[in-house]
Amino acid sequence: MSMSLTKPVDYGTPLKTTEPTITLEIDGSELTVPEGTSIMAAAKINGTSIPKLCATDSLDPFGSCRLCLVEIEGRKGYPASCTTPVSENMKVRTQTPKLEELRRGVMELYISDHPLDCLTCAANGDCELQDMAGAVGLREVRYGYDGENHLDAVKDETNPYFTFDPSKCIVCSRCVRACEEVQGTYALTIDGRGFDSKVSSGNKDFMDSECVSCGACVQACPTATLIEKTVIDHGIPDSSVTTTCAYCGVGCSFNAEMKGDQVIRMVPNKDGGANHGHSCVKGRFAWGYATHKDRITTPMIRKSIDDPWKEVTMEEAINYAASELKRLQEKYGRNSVGGITSSRCTNEETYLVQKLVRAAFGNNNVDTCARVCHSPTGYGLKATLGESSGTQDFDSIKETDVAVIIGANPTDGHPVFASHMKRRLRDGMKLIVIDPREIDILHTVHGNGGLHLQLKPGTNVAMITSIAHVIVTEGRCQEQYINDRCELDSYEMWKEFVSRKENSPEVLGLETGVDPKLIREAARMYAEPGNSAFYYGLGVTEHSQGTTMVMGIANLAMATGNLGKNGAGVNPLRGQNNVQGACDMGSFPHEFPGYRHVSDQATRDLFGNHWGVKLDHEPGLRIPNMLDFAIDGMFKGIYIEGEDIAQSDPNTKHVTHALKEMECVIVQDLFLNETAMYAHVFLPGSSFLEKSGTFTNAERRISPVRRVMAPKNGYEDWEITQMLSNALGYKMEYSSASEILDEIAELTPTFKGVSWAKLKELGSIQWPCDDANPTGTPIMHVNEFVRGKGKFWITEYIPTDEKVNGRFPLILTTGRILSHYNVGAQTRRTKNSEWHKQDLLEIHPTDAEARGINDGDLVNIKSRAGHTSLSCRITERVQPGVVYTTFHHPWSGANVITTENSDWATNCPEFKVTAVEISLAVEHSEWQKQYEKFSDTQKTLVEQFSL
Ligand code: SF4
Ligand code: SF4
Ligand code: SF4
Ligand code: FES
Repeated sequence: MSMSLTKPVDYGTPLKTTEPTITLEIDGSELTVPEGTSIMAAAKINGTSIPKLCATDSLDPFGSCRLCLVEIEGRKGYPASCTTPVSENMKVRTQTPKLEELRRGVMELYISDHPLDCLTCAANGDCELQDMAGAVGLREVRYGYDGENHLDAVKDETNPYFTFDPSKCIVCSRCVRACEEVQGTYALTIDGRGFDSKVSSGNKDFMDSECVSCGACVQACPTATLIEKTVIDHGIPDSSVTTTCAYCGVGCSFNAEMKGDQVIRMVPNKDGGANHGHSCVKGRFAWGYATHKDRITTPMIRKSIDDPWKEVTMEEAINYAASELKRLQEKYGRNSVGGITSSRCTNEETYLVQKLVRAAFGNNNVDTCARVCHSPTGYGLKATLGESSGTQDFDSIKETDVAVIIGANPTDGHPVFASHMKRRLRDGMKLIVIDPREIDILHTVHGNGGLHLQLKPGTNVAMITSIAHVIVTEGRCQEQYINDRCELDSYEMWKEFVSRKENSPEVLGLETGVDPKLIREAARMYAEPGNSAFYYGLGVTEHSQGTTMVMGIANLAMATGNLGKNGAGVNPLRGQNNVQGACDMGSFPHEFPGYRHVSDQATRDLFGNHWGVKLDHEPGLRIPNMLDFAIDGMFKGIYIEGEDIAQSDPNTKHVTHALKEMECVIVQDLFLNETAMYAHVFLPGSSFLEKSGTFTNAERRISPVRRVMAPKNGYEDWEITQMLSNALGYKMEYSSASEILDEIAELTPTFKGVSWAKLKELGSIQWPCDDANPTGTPIMHVNEFVRGKGKFWITEYIPTDEKVNGRFPLILTTGRILSHYNVGAQTRRTKNSEWHKQDLLEIHPTDAEARGINDGDLVNIKSRAGHTSLSCRITERVQPGVVYTTFHHPWSGANVITTENSDWATNCPEFKVTAVEISLAVEHSEWQKQYEKFSDTQKTLVEQFSL
C-alpha cells in the first residue's frame, strides 16, 4: 500500500498538550490553545502557515532567521512568532503589507548568498528555502554575487550516506540543534560570527568527527546542504509506505520513501510511538542489504554439504524438504526433527513456524534465538511479576528520576532510546551504570555525573543482592506498597536473606570488585522517593545466573514501589527487532503463544481444536538439546528460518559438528549465511521491505511491517512455511499475513483486540490489548501485578564455573557496536562497514604490557573451548583482567571461544564470561584457517550452478 508523498505537518515549534489553555485571536479568528504554545504553532493550528526557516517542530524555537515576524496589537515592533508564546486575549496579525515587505527583505538576503541552481539542485521540489521564497513572493534579488559569498565552499562527501554542501547553507542552526536536542551527540557547532559563521563538525570532516550518522541533521536541514546521497543519485521520492525498522528492539517507525519500487530514503516517522521521528544509522541508512548482490533468490538443494548446489523451483525445493523430513521421522521417530525461528521474523512468520512444528511435525521441538538472549527475562519476570515482558513504554523515561542501566550499552545497541535517555539526563535525571566496561552514555553531556559500578563480569547477582542489603537494612523499602501488592511470606524470606552480613556490600564487594561505598551510594540513590527505573540488556541475561539476576532486579523494583507507574519499571532492552514477539508467539518448546505451557490441557484443547490436530503435551527440545541430540544421532532434520546458529550460538565447533551430523538442514534466509553452508535445502527468504506482518518491540509495541516492494524471491516468508506445511500434509490456507494475525488474536488473550485494521487506525498497539484495554497498555502492573501478588525470590550468588586460573587468567566479555547488528549479515552488506571493518579485542594497558602487546597487534585468544585471533586495541575502557570484543564478523570466531555454560533456568548461554589467555600471535588460528577454507569451498559450490 503505497501513498503519494505528503510531508507531515510542521507546526514550527513543539506542540504543547498541557492545561491551562489560552484564548487569543489570530487574523481575526478566535482560538484556544495550551499555555506555552508559540504564536507560530497556534497559527498553524488555526490553518495559517507563517513563513519560517530556522523553526521546525522537532526543535526548540531559536529565533534566528527573522522570517516569521508578526504584528501584535498593543506591542511595538515585529516579534518572531516562533519564540513568542501566546497570551490571553492577544490579537495577532500574520499577513500585512509591512510584514510582507520585511519578509521579502529577509529572503532577499538569504537568496543573495545562495546558488540559484534550483532546477538542477537535488532538493528541487523538496526545499524549504525554495518554498519560502515563493511564500513571501520574492521576485527579484537586488544584491548580485559580486560581493563576498560562500558559493565556492567545498563539499564534505566523507559520510557514506549524506553530503554536506556548505555553499547552500543558510546557517539556520537546525542541524546543530538537531544534533544536540534530538540526537544528543553535539557533533556540530556554528563557528565564527556574522558573515563568517558556518556549520562545523569540529574542524574535522564528518567521517572523523563525533558524528554517529543518525541523520537527524539531514532531516532538519531546510535546504540541500545536508542531503542523502540516494536523493542526489536518484531524485526526490514520489510515494511512501509506513513500516517498521527490522534492526533493534527499539522498533522505530519509518516512512519508506519510494520512486516506483526503489527505496530512495527511509525517513523516521514523526508519529512513531517508539521513535517520535528519530532514527539511528542502521534504520535510517543501512537498508541496502535488501538489494545486495549476495542475496540468493533461487531455491537450491543438494544431497550432501560437499555437493554443489542445484538450482530448483520453489515447489521442487519444498517437496524435497518435505520428503526428507518425512523420511527422517519414519526412520528415526517423530521427535528427530524440529524448527528454529528468529527474532528477525515477523510475529506472523514465527507463529506459523511454531504451528508447523507442533501441527505438521507433531512435536514441540521449536525454539528461537531468544534462547540465546532474553529467555531469562521471560522466566524471571513471569516468576516475580507474572508477565514475561518489560513493564513500561519508552516515553516513561520522561518521568524517571534515577535510571539504572545494567549490562546494556544503549548508545550502541538501542541508539534512539539512548537519545531519549540523554535528553532526560540533560533535564537532570540521575544515572547509575552497572557494567564491566565504561560505556559511552557515561560520557555524554550531563551523563558525567553518573555512578559507574564497574563490576567484574559474572558478579551481577552479588551486586544486586548487596544493593538490596543496603535498601533493606537502611529501612528504605516501601512497606505499604509491599503490604498491598506482594506476597508477604516471600518478602519476609527475601528480607531476611539479603539482610545477612554475608550479603553486605562490604562482603560481596570482594566478589564484584566494586568499592562498597559506591554500592551504598547507588542503593540509596535508587531507593530515593521518586521514580527509579531499571534498563538492562544481555549483560544481565547471558550468564549462568541470568534468571536469578532478572529476579533480583524485579525484587528491588517491588521493594521500592517502582512498578506500575510512569517513570519506573523493569525494562529489558531487546537486542533484535522482534525478540519480544518471538517469545510472545510461542516459539519456545514448552509454551504456546501467550506463554501457556504445553502441559496445560485446556490450552492444548484450544489450539488443538482450532488447528484440527492432537498436540503433544511434552515440552520439546531447546536449541542446545537439539544440537546435543544431533551429535548423539537422535536429531536428524531441522528447519531454520532467519537464524544463523553457526555464528550466533556458543561453542561454534560444537554447533557445526551437530549441523554436520544432521541429514536434512533446511535454511530459509536472505544470504548463504554460516548455517546455510551446512544446509541441504536453501529456501530464499524475503527482507522486511518485501513482506507484511508485525514486529513487537521492547515496550510490547506491535507495529505494522508493510511490503514496499515485491519479494525478490517471489514469496513472503510465511508463504514458504505454508507451502512446506502443505507438502507435509498439514493444510494451511492463509491468503495474507493479516489473516494469520487474526488467528493469533483469536487464540491469544493478550492479543485479543489486535487487528490489521486497528493497527492502521492507531499506528501501533502495546499489548495487552483486550476488552479491558482496547487501545493497548503502555504501563503494566498498574493496580496489581499480573500474577496477583508480586513474588520475591532469593537471589543467592553462585559464582560461575567459568573460573580464571593461571592458564586462563583474563575474562572475555562481548558486546555490539552502533554500526553493526548482531551477526552482521545485513549491516556487513551496507556502507556501515566503513565504520567497523573488523572485530577488535579491547585490552587494558596493564594486561597488554605484561604480555608485550602493542596497539594493533594480532593476538591469540584461547579459552577452554577454542582458539581464535584478532587485532587488539589497547584501552582503559576495560578494567585490568577483562578483555572485550564484538561478534559481528564470522571470521572473528568470537563464539569459537565462548563455552557451553548456560543459565540454570533457561539454558541461555553464558556469553558474557569466558576465561581466556591472550598472547601475541604470529598467524591466525587453526579454526580461522579451516573456516576460511570451508567457507571458500561453500561459496564455490553456490557459484557452480550460477555459472
Ligand atoms: S548525523 Fe546525527 S550525529 Fe551526525 S551530525 Fe547529524 S545529527 Fe549529529
Ligand atoms: S546545514 Fe542546513 S540545517 Fe544546518 S545551518 Fe545549514 S541550512 Fe541550516
Ligand atoms: S536500529 Fe533500532 S534505534 Fe536504529 S532505527 Fe532501527 S529500531 Fe531504531
Ligand atoms: S522561524 Fe522564527 S526566527 Fe526563524
